[in-house]
Amino acid sequence: MSSSRLDQIKEEALLAFRQAANSKDLYDLKVKFLGKSGLLTEVMKEMATLPKEEKPLFGKRVNEVKSALETAYGEAEEALKKQEIEAKLAQEELDITLPAAGRPRGGAHPIHLVTEEIATIMARLGYALRTGPQIEKDYYNFEALNIPKDHPSRDMQDTFFVDQNHVLRTHTSPIQIHSLESESLPLRVIGTGPVYRVDSDISHLPNFHQIEALCVDKKVSMADLKGTITYFVREFFGATLKTRFRPSFFPFTEPSAEVDCQCPICKGKGCSMCKQTGWIEIGGCGLVNPRVFEHAKIDPKQWQGFAFGFGIERMAIIKYGIPDIRLFPENDVRFLRPFAGESV
Ligand code: PHE
Repeated sequence: MSSSRLDQIKEEALLAFRQAANSKDLYDLKVKFLGKSGLLTEVMKEMATLPKEEKPLFGKRVNEVKSALETAYGEAEEALKKQEIEAKLAQEELDITLPAAGRPRGGAHPIHLVTEEIATIMARLGYALRTGPQIEKDYYNFEALNIPKDHPSRDMQDTFFVDQNHVLRTHTSPIQIHSLESESLPLRVIGTGPVYRVDSDISHLPNFHQIEALCVDKKVSMADLKGTITYFVREFFGATLKTRFRPSFFPFTEPSAEVDCQCPICKGKGCSMCKQTGWIEIGGCGLVNPRVFEHAKIDPKQWQGFAFGFGIERMAIIKYGIPDIRLFPENDVRFLRPFAGESV
């Protein structure tokens, strides 16, 4: 074994330690050069074959190389660790100026928003909010509203019957009866909630929502009804839209009318939304039929009233230009998000 071989190992090891790319490679090099069966150990073993007088000097040289390599290893190890920590820190750097990732947020459904807006407008006129059962007695949904059994006017609404005496309410008008039976007069209430009809197409849902107003007082006239609806529609859709009343029929009001609102899309000129008529129907109204008062044991000679009932989906469709009523129950977040104040 020549000392030049020892020098060669030393040079090789020093270079390799310096060039090691990471701590793991460096450790492998340590094993290769300084390990139990590494190159230096091999050289040591060869010492046995040397002449006796050369042994001490050679042994000393091996030890020098060994400690030089250990020092070099220590330095390289420290340098690499520093490097690795710095790299890790750079990678994990926290940029506190970045906006937070955010969490998905829930939002109110447009039907809920429109209902709240309507209730707020009507509250300014002194109307209090009421609800009622969705599974309704036949009596409240029909009979008390002057729609007797076996009468043709029942066919105006295609009904889901639960049993002989119960129906999924077809309108919010039964809420009128509950109020007439249980509240004192004079009375101003709005009733709202889901209603059900056997009906389903691009502009009808089997389950939709209505908002109903009932005012009972002394000396209530069609003029009060028209004034209230006109105010309400203006507040809801904006000041420029006109309303129009067409004579109609409902068993529980007399006289009755249907309410049209000038199409907010074309402002009455005619477009696809209003089927070129310039008007969109939003619901029905009329003066409370004295027979309804009689059912509720109220004297129609003393009290008069008016009522109107509008479809909430219809109103939302007109206000927001929604193309298909079926979007409401689908719960597609792309449709719902803008109502929650978020971009799509
Ligand atoms: N209940 C009627 C309907 O659903 C609407 C209406 C309410 C009409 C109140 C007049 C008065 O068609």
